[in-house]
Amino acid sequence: MSGSVPLVALTGVSFAYEEGPTVLSDLDFAVWEGRALALLGRNGSGKTTLMRLLSGGLRPRAGRLTVAGAPVGYDRAGLTRLRGTVQLVVQDPDDQLFAASVAQDVSFGPLNLGLSDDEARARVDEALAALDITALADRPTHLLSYGQRKRTAIAGAVAMRPRVLILDEPTAGLDPDGQERLLTTLDGLRANGTTVVMATHDVDLALRWADDAALLTPAGARVGPAERMLAGTELLRRAGLRLPWGVAAARLLREHGLVDEGTPSPRTAGELAELVLRPPRG
Ligand SMILES: Nc1ncnc2c1ncn2[C@@H]1O[C@H](COP(=O)(O)OP(=O)(O)OP(=O)(O)O)[C@@H](O)[C@H]1O
Ligand SMILES: [Mg+2]
Repeated sequence: MSGSVPLVALTGVSFAYEEGPTVLSDLDFAVWEGRALALLGRNGSGKTTLMRLLSGGLRPRAGRLTVAGAPVGYDRAGLTRLRGTVQLVVQDPDDQLFAASVAQDVSFGPLNLGLSDDEARARVDEALAALDITALADRPTHLLSYGQRKRTAIAGAVAMRPRVLILDEPTAGLDPDGQERLLTTLDGLRANGTTVVMATHDVDLALRWADDAALLTPAGARVGPAERMLAGTELLRRAGLRLPWGVAAARLLREHGLVDEGTPSPRTAGELAELVLRPPRG
């Protein structure tokens, strides 16, 4: 699915806020079409900043942002084009929702694209259905629960039919069922061709969900297959993270000679039980 040019990329990007230290320095970062990407790092490591750079909300001090290889212009036309491709959902839904009702809020983006009322309504219906909140369409946004507000904020981005959907800690604050439902929703969006990028502190979720993982450390971003990136104790420590539980469990079982070297890490309690109940060869 991924070609030789990334869908969205930052090249040689440095960024500092007006009144702050340099957050990112000479960073190369690519989003490949069809690859689910998890972005991990400790508090203050620059995940949100990186996501805002990818979606054009912040402009790099140095370096550039490209979409399918073409540099993004930061004028109105350039940013409008970018928003048709890349949509960011911020961490706190209250920073994103502002309209009186759910349907109004979700329709804002499509109407702003200049779509007709009918076209916008179709986009809204589609996005509400994708997020499983059709029944909330007429509800006032300020009366929704936190999880419902999060879904509404994501629906607003989905209604733009972006090629890349960037979610800043989308599962934070959701209950276990809400997290599962969100992952199912994201699977559906991915099956329809949307590339999803997610910032999270949850290494277990990242291992389960992502194709690739990017770890932000003081030395820069390290990106690779999630399975490999999330098994490196030292790298995880530098990124302020712990080992996923399945990786930690498999390591302990190996140390105690209960499973062979190279046994894949369990992802569920059932897989863990299978490993323990099946004695090592030889
Ligand atoms: N508007 C701002 N003005 C000045 N400094 C900022 C601003 N926003 C963030 N920073 C600083 O930039 C650095 C990176 O912050 P950022 O929000 O990108 O981190 P993060 O990885 O998303 O953290 P968290 O896990 O807490 O969400 C931090 O040192 C933060 O204090
Ligand atoms: Mg953040």
